[in-house]
Amino acid sequence: MHVRVVAVAVASVLGTAALLNPISDARARDVGEPTVIAHRGASAYAPENTLASIDKAARLGFSWVENDVQRTRDGKLVVIHDDSLRRTTNVEKLFPGRAPWKVKDFTAAEIARLDAGSWYSPAYAGTRVPTLKQYMRRVEHNHEKLLLEIKNPELYPGIEQQTLKLLGHEGWLDRGHLKRLIVQSFSVGSIRTVHELKPAVTTALLGSPTAAQLRRDAPFTDLVNPSYGSLTKKYVAAAHALRGAHGRPLRVFAWTVNDAVTARKVAGCGVDGIITNKPDVVRAALGSY
Ligand code: G3P
Ligand code: CA
Repeated sequence: MHVRVVAVAVASVLGTAALLNPISDARARDVGEPTVIAHRGASAYAPENTLASIDKAARLGFSWVENDVQRTRDGKLVVIHDDSLRRTTNVEKLFPGRAPWKVKDFTAAEIARLDAGSWYSPAYAGTRVPTLKQYMRRVEHNHEKLLLEIKNPELYPGIEQQTLKLLGHEGWLDRGHLKRLIVQSFSVGSIRTVHELKPAVTTALLGSPTAAQLRRDAPFTDLVNPSYGSLTKKYVAAAHALRGAHGRPLRVFAWTVNDAVTARKVAGCGVDGIITNKPDVVRAALGSY
């Protein structure tokens, strides 16, 4: 009887830990094969950071998508990569006198008028820059998982708290959703803030910090996500040797890998995830597509 009680207790603790740790969950399923994350959605096949690009990822059979979150002049969170609207929208045409067309200088209503699809292909004309709220609802609808990047946080004081508040309102901070969410940033301060505000959230530090920096930052991050160009087996092993914010080995997601040769090379370094514009190409390269 005592043995059974202990077994149930251990199973319960392990189950809870797996629930709260999306990466260990993914590894348990894939047994050593890296998780494939669609970068800005399946952005080789649809305009980046739009609802179309995460729909495309879902249609290709990928559940993890990555995005970039910034803030408008009137304080709304929107999903877009550059700090300027120029490259991925028709802002220059609609607002010719507003150079350099910074996201932070436009209201949400103005941004909602922009075409964020035509630059990519006429087939996507009329595609919009999604608000984070619209985006989260589509991620939910598609049963996807999100690697959310807080982009340029130095431009948007308080964006960590605001993002977490929106995620909470949308139901993404409950137990079930936490295993489908990672918040990442190039800013150490931003990741530390997210961890301090909501310790249950899985966090990732973008870039290639030194081993010493990693040791310093590990208490508030669960992953380190470096560019594939700087990646070595030794670096991945050094990260895996450290315990992260939730007491597990730091994981490593490498970006942005868009060809088969690099995908196999990066997988050979022992990474836990590969962030890619072409998730189908990466999965095929890894041999299980
Ligand atoms: O997720 C990694 C990657 O998104 C970081 O670089 O510039 O594409 O946001 P960037
Ligand atoms: Ca990004």
